[in-house]
Amino acid sequence: MSPTDDADRRLRRALLDNMPDMAWIKDRESRYLAVSSAYLETLGVNEADVIGRKPEEVWPADVADVYLQTDRAVLRSGKRRRYEESRRDPGGELRWYDTIKSPIRDDAGRIVGTVGISRDITRRKASEAELIASRAELRRLSGAEQRARESERARIARELHDELGQTLTAIKMQLVSLKSVAPIPAETLAGRLERLIGIVDQSVVDLRRIATELRPLILDELGLPAALEWLAQTVSEQAQLAVALDFEVGDPPFDPDARTAAFRIVQEALTNAVRHGHASQARVFGRRRGDAFEITVEDDGRGIEPSSTPTGRLGLAGMRERARLAGGTVEIVGAPGRGTTVTLRLPLPRGGSAKRKR
Ligand SMILES: Nc1ncnc2c1ncn2[C@@H]1O[C@H](COP(=O)(O)OP(=O)(O)OP(=O)(O)O)[C@@H](O)[C@H]1O
Ligand SMILES: [Mg+2]
Repeated sequence: MSPTDDADRRLRRALLDNMPDMAWIKDRESRYLAVSSAYLETLGVNEADVIGRKPEEVWPADVADVYLQTDRAVLRSGKRRRYEESRRDPGGELRWYDTIKSPIRDDAGRIVGTVGISRDITRRKASEAELIASRAELRRLSGAEQRARESERARIARELHDELGQTLTAIKMQLVSLKSVAPIPAETLAGRLERLIGIVDQSVVDLRRIATELRPLILDELGLPAALEWLAQTVSEQAQLAVALDFEVGDPPFDPDARTAAFRIVQEALTNAVRHGHASQARVFGRRRGDAFEITVEDDGRGIEPSSTPTGRLGLAGMRERARLAGGTVEIVGAPGRGTTVTLRLPLPRGGSAKRKR
């Protein structure tokens, strides 16, 4: 029950008109016998421009040459070939294709031509490249995270050793020398105790400072505006950067991770304003924007260059990553001489006013 030639042609046409890929059938001399509609659309030509012609009459010489060679390889080997190729479309844009070419045989098994299908994989290629880049970025970040953690530990160890180690040793020496003086005259005792109390007071101050730098407890206890207030004060004392804080509504109802992210991002923005912007003033605004909370940090420094993404620098990448993990975004704009603005947008939990408390 073999279909007639006519029915055969109709079936072939239906297939070629409906497939999204470029497809063709060629004879042994690489002359086109049939092509898909997608083929004609991609090239912007009519069937009459292609059928009966050879690749060099349809394609630019260099492309045609490759097609002839791959056709010959299929004819010679009798095997299917699959390869990825790139070429410019008529508009000049570079596109990628996944192409398969196979031999066509007659009843006696002789190769009478080739069939080919070429799928546009430009988008897949682009997302692969994006994925590779973002994996590399993640690896870089997590490596740097680890190094930062190690150096932070080293710093804490040094501080504990140098500051608290010293004061505890001093206390011990005082106590040992007191023990050796017996009986202790009343005024000696009072004097020594006075000094001991002074040393202990100082170590309490040191300990508080070390702990606060590690993580401001105020963030968990009193919320974001209070912690930023503390940060603003510290920055203006240590770095002569005057920081004005303006939160439209009190403490935004962030979950703890988002709150930490917001704090660290503002902290990095202010550090950058001092280190790179050489700013003298900064303003931190907080306001509600629909379902999100927006915090902007503006400095009056020299302004970030739009292309500032030096490798090995992590501040900006870390800001973006923190914001992304909390479901938000960070935008950084600046113009030479006109300061830098960092805008952080973080979604507020649904149901809004869930007042957080530890
Ligand atoms: N407020 C700013 N004003 C001017 N330039 C800035 C500002 N913030 C960032 N930059 C520029 O962007 C670059 C990248 O900043 P980023 O915070 O990522 O790195 P860094 O501060 O140099 O190093 P790190 O933060 O990793 O210690 C900086 O080196 C600087 O050139
Ligand atoms: Mg930085």
